[in-house]
Amino acid sequence: MRAVIHLTRAGVSLVLASLPAAGADDDSASGLPVVLHWGAALPPDEDVASLLALHTPGVPFSALDRPRLRGVVGETVSGFTGTPGLSGHRVPGSVAPRLRSWTWTSYDDDAGDGVRLVSRDDEAGWEVGVDLRLTVEGLVEMRTTVTNTGAGELVLGQVRNALPVAARATELLDLTGRWTRERAPQRGPWRVGSHLREARHGRTGHDATLLLAAGTPGFGFGHGEVWATHVAWSGDHAAYAERTVAGECLLGGGELLAEGEVVLAPGASYASPALVGSYAADGLDGVSTRLHGWVRRTRPLTRPRPVLVNTWEATYFDHDLAGLTALADAAAAVGAERFVLDDGWFRGRRDDRAGLGDWTVDRDVWPQGLHPLIEHVHRAGLDFGLWVEPEMVNVDSDLVREHPGWVLRGRPSALPDEWRHQQVLDLRHPGAYAHVRDALVALLDEYPIAFLKWDHNRDLVDVGAAVHEQTAAFYALLDELHLAHPDVEIESCASGGGRIDLGVLARTDRVWTSDTIDAVERQRIQRWTSLLVPLERLGAHVGGPVAHTTGRRHTVAFRAATALLGHLGIEWDVRTLEPAQRDELAGWVRLHQQLRPLLASGRLVRGDHPDPAVVTTGVVAPDRSEAWYVVAMVDSTLTEGPAPITLPGLDPARRYVVRDATPPGEQATGFIGTSWLGDAAGHTASGAALGALGVRMPVLLPETARVLHVRA
Ligand code: GLA
Repeated sequence: MRAVIHLTRAGVSLVLASLPAAGADDDSASGLPVVLHWGAALPPDEDVASLLALHTPGVPFSALDRPRLRGVVGETVSGFTGTPGLSGHRVPGSVAPRLRSWTWTSYDDDAGDGVRLVSRDDEAGWEVGVDLRLTVEGLVEMRTTVTNTGAGELVLGQVRNALPVAARATELLDLTGRWTRERAPQRGPWRVGSHLREARHGRTGHDATLLLAAGTPGFGFGHGEVWATHVAWSGDHAAYAERTVAGECLLGGGELLAEGEVVLAPGASYASPALVGSYAADGLDGVSTRLHGWVRRTRPLTRPRPVLVNTWEATYFDHDLAGLTALADAAAAVGAERFVLDDGWFRGRRDDRAGLGDWTVDRDVWPQGLHPLIEHVHRAGLDFGLWVEPEMVNVDSDLVREHPGWVLRGRPSALPDEWRHQQVLDLRHPGAYAHVRDALVALLDEYPIAFLKWDHNRDLVDVGAAVHEQTAAFYALLDELHLAHPDVEIESCASGGGRIDLGVLARTDRVWTSDTIDAVERQRIQRWTSLLVPLERLGAHVGGPVAHTTGRRHTVAFRAATALLGHLGIEWDVRTLEPAQRDELAGWVRLHQQLRPLLASGRLVRGDHPDPAVVTTGVVAPDRSEAWYVVAMVDSTLTEGPAPITLPGLDPARRYVVRDATPPGEQATGFIGTSWLGDAAGHTASGAALGALGVRMPVLLPETARVLHVRA
């Protein structure tokens, strides 16, 4: 039997066809499934069998005597010479799986349409299932499941999913980074061979690429054809872009398994995390729109994002009831709606050397528990959030003194080297898992906690082959807590942006984007993190006048404008504010509250400006009746005033009023000379003109920003 399938959704098509079955023993089976096309939508009545004929390569000299097409699984035994889709062995008698005959089952559900492909090789003892879904957002999700159908154990090597992209995508973009400098872009030509990004941190990593994108030359946020993939997993993982000598162009990835990390007993299975693929004909903004839609659908937010005050950079470990209630009052005075008590509240935690693991309130500091603080916070009109780091322990903790065997380690003779003076709790141990789950549930049962900031402040080093199970246990813990307390919102933090991926975003409500809240750094970090993460889930805080991580000094206006189009927070000791500063900050909070419904539903657009000093971030209402843009100068401009700022995403046929909406304050002007920015009523232009011609700004000082409001 020959099978074909053409899935099409939201302007994207995914087309598969089978090659003739070789040696099939039943009629329902077909040969190797090939992804013929992932990209722009094709007509629904496209003749796929004919497309397959048009895309079957010739047989060159010095090659197999049959046309060679890469199947959904890159099989070395079928002559594919790129990165193998599957590897593994058994002792003794290892035979590589050769998957010749497949069954196809198509399905559709609320999430989209898909096909499940299954094949087995009884000689090798492998059954392989490949699931390909085209979601309602037009994303491809690809997962592979391996089952050991043989007699002995199967030691799994790697399981890689990969999707083909068009050969005209000759440029690559990916992200790297480090603590306080997450998501730094790098781009270059896509040459023959592999561009491989491996992450071995035991968590996603500050350097995780989030997306690996390939596009037509010069692609940007608003132009060019782009294909991008993401590995939806919070542990070790690999992402690669590969061009083979046979002409295949592939974006792939999967979990990065350590030697012997997954050993399948007879009958046991391994399911890969999803490789998620996003295609857009109109640049990276289009790629992000689909991904943001996925996050919003998978983990819907039920209420507007409360503006929060976080205690960390305001007080660090200096906790006392009088000081913190005063902070809560000052937070209420600027309009904050949530008070988050960061690190330092639990038993023995006077600094970062002790206490992790002992998740009960420190009675020396809080004789009546957290009740008096929370009651005060509630009276001030805010809800309450709490910092936790459930997967970690300090050796100096009652937990480790009582259960030294619960520390994750790769060798009996020594503990792993410490990192921020801490070790990792071995969540594979049922007692350890139950202990931390019960401790968290007890906290949530006792206190009215609306929000947990869930941290993870070290890499997993010298822990043996534990990352796979540790990551699965982390997900299980989040899932159990969600069942027990469905209304509690959770933030994914890992020393800032060290755990940001679709695996965790399916289970949490926002990410702590970075430990730096320096506005210049944040302009860049948020711009690139938003490739994957919708703006309303990016924790973005207004820090103090001098950034703690860089020493740079910025105005309230620049700090607040930089946080405005995120999940706004304040991480500044607001007890110390002068009245004028307080009024200015309160103005920014009100502006955020005004625009946040649009922020949570709108489409993100990021301007492609020729001058790297200019960073434009916009959000456009779904019906394009309204939009907000923040124009930030991260450096001095090359020209006297910046070249005109185009405002993308508007309806070309409609007329809009553009006005400066920057709240007044301290040094809010930030520009030299005169400008239309001072014209309170604004000016009218079509969406076409604003998208093509843009608006001219005055000479803007470095490290300043303006907010533009556009309304039909
Ligand atoms: C990590 C987080 C910070 C803060 C500290 C507390 O570094 O990223 O925001 O919560 O831990 O120890």
